Amino acid sequence: MKISENNMNILLIGSGGRENALAWKIAQSKKTKQLFIAPGNPGTAKFGVNIPVAVNDFGGIKNAAIENRIDLVIVGPEDPLVNGIVDFFTSDIELKTIPIIGPDKIGAQLEGSKNFSKQFMFRHNIPTARYLSVNSENITEGINFLKTLNAPYVLKADGLAAGKGVLILNDLEKTISELKSMLEGKFGSASSTVVIEEFLSGIECSVFVITDGKNYQILPEAKDYKRIGEGDTGLNTGGMGAVSPVSFADEVFMKKVEERIIKPTVSGLYSEGIIYKGFIFFGLIKVGNEPYVIEYNARMGDPETEVVMLRLKSDLVDLFEGVAQGNLNEKVVEFDDRFAVTVMLVSGGYPEDFEKGKVIKGLDKIKDSIVFHAGTAMKDGQIVTSGGRVMAISSYGKTKAEALSVSFKNASLIEFDKRYFRSDIGFDL
Ligand code: AMP
Ligand code: GLY
Repeated sequence: MKISENNMNILLIGSGGRENALAWKIAQSKKTKQLFIAPGNPGTAKFGVNIPVAVNDFGGIKNAAIENRIDLVIVGPEDPLVNGIVDFFTSDIELKTIPIIGPDKIGAQLEGSKNFSKQFMFRHNIPTARYLSVNSENITEGINFLKTLNAPYVLKADGLAAGKGVLILNDLEKTISELKSMLEGKFGSASSTVVIEEFLSGIECSVFVITDGKNYQILPEAKDYKRIGEGDTGLNTGGMGAVSPVSFADEVFMKKVEERIIKPTVSGLYSEGIIYKGFIFFGLIKVGNEPYVIEYNARMGDPETEVVMLRLKSDLVDLFEGVAQGNLNEKVVEFDDRFAVTVMLVSGGYPEDFEKGKVIKGLDKIKDSIVFHAGTAMKDGQIVTSGGRVMAISSYGKTKAEALSVSFKNASLIEFDKRYFRSDIGFDL
């Protein structure tokens, strides 16, 4: 293990805008010798070597790690974490000495099972909405619980459902029929258990920590914009843009978040024997002046990472080293004082059906923004669209407005057929 030397071979797993932003930051570290990304995208290829191995192909990832003498692995997305990639590494004779950033399968249940995360929060007195978990055996109890709540009603598939497993409904009868169809497999096995929650009303933001299992460091917070339409209307997406810092997440609010949410989460995991080494993403809602947890994720956010990395002044690989060695408390996390924003260019039609393979033009015209690729591919020497979310245009500014004007200007310079972006990111702050 070469960790703590300045010549590490690093393997980053994933292929989205989040991974492009992580690759950008990792490549800046003096500790990085060579970065590899599996599978990466044309944007990550600027910062390292892409390896054509899928995120859930653990055998392929093992081969890549051994072949390239990898000293440190970072897992970007939730899928391989929930599928146990960390356990795969730690139980493999050839891989177990390689530090891996991400929680093991049990820790990843904070994201992989809403029922697990709600139970965890209640065990540790962490503020969150009241809930009841329902399966085919207690539907009547579920319906009775719904009748005690006021509209709107919140139904969540217990398992991973690619961001689609949450329904918010106004009508009780409709909610009851949706509950039944979820339990009958609307989201496959992910909804064989459904969490019914009390609706919380407030403004949301994302808070991130990195932890070595015992110590933690708080990273810059961000707000993302999930709806497809301006003014936060229309269908939910993976995220249309993000802003950091978040004006309402002031010192008083963040102190409450740390004391009531971050500390009991990290110490709760530790006290339950869950050695969590990685990022924890707290999806929060501010109700009145009080923070509540809407959800945990076992990874960084996307597109939040595309602003958080811009505002993190500290060496990210040095923080990873602290995670691996269990001395994260000795590291210093410094924030850039500037604003960072990102605006996501998406394919027309997204988040419903959309076409791929559109040629992307205008990248050479971009000044003063960092373009992170999300859903792009190389085809016949050209960069083309390959996903719903295509590129995140990230910028700094002395003010939020200044950063946004740079991102919007550059967003309009990048062209592809049916390109769309929201031109009101940050409007509510
Ligand atoms: P989740 O996947 O749990 O983050 O839920 C997706 C979105 O649904 C959140 O970002 C919130 O906007 C909304 N949401 C989830 N749970 C609640 C709740 N209990 N009250 C209000 N809104 C919620
Ligand atoms: N931006 C929300 C997420 O990454 O889940």
